[in-house]
Amino acid sequence: MKNYKIAVLAGDGIGPEITQEALKVLKVIEQRNDVSFELMPALFGACAYFATGDAFPQQTKDICDQADAILKGPIGLSHEESKQIPVDKQPERGALLPMRRRYNTYANFRPVSLPKSLAHFSPLKPEIIGEGIDLIMVRELVGGLYFGEKERGINDKGLRYVRETLEYDEEQIRRIMHQAFKLAGKRRKLLHNIHKSNVLMSSVLWNEVMEEVAKEYPDVQVVNCLVDSAATALCLNPTQFDVMVMENMFGDILSDQGGGILGSLGLMPSACIGPDKAYYEPSHGSAPDIAGKNIANPYSMIGSVAMMLENSFDMEAEAKNVWAAMQGVFADGYSTADLSKPGSGVSMISTVEFGDKVVEKLLKMPKV
Ligand code: IPM
Ligand code: MG
Repeated sequence: MKNYKIAVLAGDGIGPEITQEALKVLKVIEQRNDVSFELMPALFGACAYFATGDAFPQQTKDICDQADAILKGPIGLSHEESKQIPVDKQPERGALLPMRRRYNTYANFRPVSLPKSLAHFSPLKPEIIGEGIDLIMVRELVGGLYFGEKERGINDKGLRYVRETLEYDEEQIRRIMHQAFKLAGKRRKLLHNIHKSNVLMSSVLWNEVMEEVAKEYPDVQVVNCLVDSAATALCLNPTQFDVMVMENMFGDILSDQGGGILGSLGLMPSACIGPDKAYYEPSHGSAPDIAGKNIANPYSMIGSVAMMLENSFDMEAEAKNVWAAMQGVFADGYSTADLSKPGSGVSMISTVEFGDKVVEKLLKMPKV
């Protein structure tokens, strides 16, 4: 029997509630397969800061170091509450970016997927959604503005100023391109390269390297697309996209737009892959306004489990079953209150009930 160690970082806000549902799904995977998971819970985010003075404490680092994969819930506080924590210790700067840096998780996969049967969640018209949206954004996650040098001070005119740098070397660009081309090769063999080379020198180098790497993947068609125009195209014609590759900041913004065209960021799981370690997390924040109400949909967290099964444990078929189970619950007409308004024709269920229904469906799926 295979045994995997999973660090479980439930995080802040709705994190613990949706993590609980994801863990139920992992239990079912154990029942159905010759596999066992050793869960190693650890504090991460604002909860860790309040308990230890550090949003990513050493003990959590040790647990993550030992783990075969990391399942991470959303972290962070409301804008007002974050003021209790010094800026450099806040969960995003004090935990999330250090996690990305520690494990060099340079490749971030963010599926934007909406089967036709779930089209009612989307603000887009049915004729735009057509047979459904199924694209995946590949975001470079450890370079660019996020990790460049930063400086703040008073300039010689006596004015406060700030300088942040956007830096990439060709190797950083090459490795994310390989990831994107490989993925495109397994899908529709279509890669949209997102850039801003009419303004940014970083995009000029990005595109140069992209053209070099493209030679190794002659069967993948590349379409170059300016990032601003991609934002419009995602609304007007999202089904033209299959795999999109982009640098860190563009990926942060466009992937939230991806959530927007689906109808909610709650439908956005993600995988963050490094050379030796991967972690899996929803693309959204901790939604403190709805925390503890048992109304948050666990789709993004359970979807992150599916991505973990596929990428870290080679369990692609079970991963597909998890997606199908979740989509099946929606297709049966159920939803949670964070995703659907009363009167929208769906039967409203709680976070826990959604998890239970996913488990029920999964148990009925043919074993692989
Ligand atoms: C994301 C988030 C993070 C980011 C924040 C929480 C630092 O928005 O994963 O997209 O900007 O990368
Ligand atoms: Mg973001």
